Amino acid sequence: MKILVVGSGGREHALIWKIAQSPKVEKIYCAPGNAGTAALAENVPISSDDIQALKKFASAKKIDLTIVGPEAPLVSGIADLFEKDGLRIFGPRQAAARIEGSKVFSKQFMVKNDIPTAQAGIFNNAKEAKDYINVMGAPVVVKADGLAAGKGVMVCKTKAEALTAVETIMEKKEFGSAGNMVVVEECLVGEEASILALTDGRSIVPLVSSQDHKRIFDEDKGPNTGGMGAYSPAPVVTDRLMEEITVNVLKPFVAGMDREGTPYKGVFYAGIMVTKQGPMVLEFNCRFGDPETQPIMMRMKSDIVPILEAVVEGKLDDRLIEWDKRASVCVVLASGGYPGKFEKGIPINGLDKIDQIEEVIVFHAGTELTGDNKVVTAGGRVLGVTALGDNIKFAIEKAYRAIGLLHFKNMHYRKDIGKKAIKH
Ligand code: AMP
Ligand code: GLY
Repeated sequence: MKILVVGSGGREHALIWKIAQSPKVEKIYCAPGNAGTAALAENVPISSDDIQALKKFASAKKIDLTIVGPEAPLVSGIADLFEKDGLRIFGPRQAAARIEGSKVFSKQFMVKNDIPTAQAGIFNNAKEAKDYINVMGAPVVVKADGLAAGKGVMVCKTKAEALTAVETIMEKKEFGSAGNMVVVEECLVGEEASILALTDGRSIVPLVSSQDHKRIFDEDKGPNTGGMGAYSPAPVVTDRLMEEITVNVLKPFVAGMDREGTPYKGVFYAGIMVTKQGPMVLEFNCRFGDPETQPIMMRMKSDIVPILEAVVEGKLDDRLIEWDKRASVCVVLASGGYPGKFEKGIPINGLDKIDQIEEVIVFHAGTELTGDNKVVTAGGRVLGVTALGDNIKFAIEKAYRAIGLLHFKNMHYRKDIGKKAIKH
């Protein structure tokens, strides 16, 4: 088979690493990819947002299956475009991808389908949003309706902060038309977990649980990022809780999307807050998580390609995925300054030494190859050092041992990835 993976992050490198192990696969392309994907796939210089060019490429190369990493092309309708030309693609159609593309749609969907979520108000004008905040008080969460590159959610400790958030989103239009509407919601308290599940529109196969670390600094301090590290499994998700999430979240999600007339096919990601009242949904994403996919792929023992094909063909049934029982941890090495401004083009040293440590893979994110084949930084999140260990403690130790071999100027990483899992 010929496979095309769309995207350029650690998630895409991890998917390609797993796909490359399948005996069914003869060739992998990645658009646009990074220095890590270049070792396993042929990078193609097409942006993940240029869905017309991606479709032309897939037609010309007779790609058997395209897998979409990021949300933006899905929300723009890449799946609809490919399917119209008879090209097989893994990912939901545009109408179903609204579950991530619009926080307003997502909240209304959850309410309609009795999926537990924070109490919220939905507003299309700033004055009403502010009045609501003045009544609700703080802490409170303000969310821009549309895609905002992960920056559209503001968890506000005070009323003043929340009022400023409404101004930023709705009046200053910092995220453009994504801020035409806002969701203002109750601030939930608890531990977060990520539950990803595959569905072909009817059957559901959950993946193993994981937990992200969203804030830039240790002890969850500082601004939100795309994710500074992840581990799997997440011990906060006990078997009993997983059963509850399956019944109260995963099943109503798939059934509800079908009732909307927009059946969902692909992977969906429920961001869960485990509260005293039980699991509540913070958000749904229409794709694999990043960095959650890195530890999840390291634990997947089954060949992923027939599983992805079963989703696309509507034949998922109750297909079993075999998992490594051990724990996996991914620590993200970021450019100093991220999630704010940072320098690019900095040489990365030590990648050739990683082979010394067994069962450690360095997934690339913001990296690129220079003309003379050196790896340099090219983004905020640069590398995801991912280790497998007999338990979470060993996996953490191994990941940080590997980090000791790596270096680039202004490298920043959290020292406490996985600590929450040990507490359990
Ligand atoms: P979202 O993109 O909706 O997942 O929001 C990003 C992050 O903001 C989440 O991972 C949480 O850490 C936080 N967040 C979102 N909604 C809430 C909420 N209602 N209460 C507390 N934290 C939230
Ligand atoms: N790790 C968070 C996300 O993928 O949205």
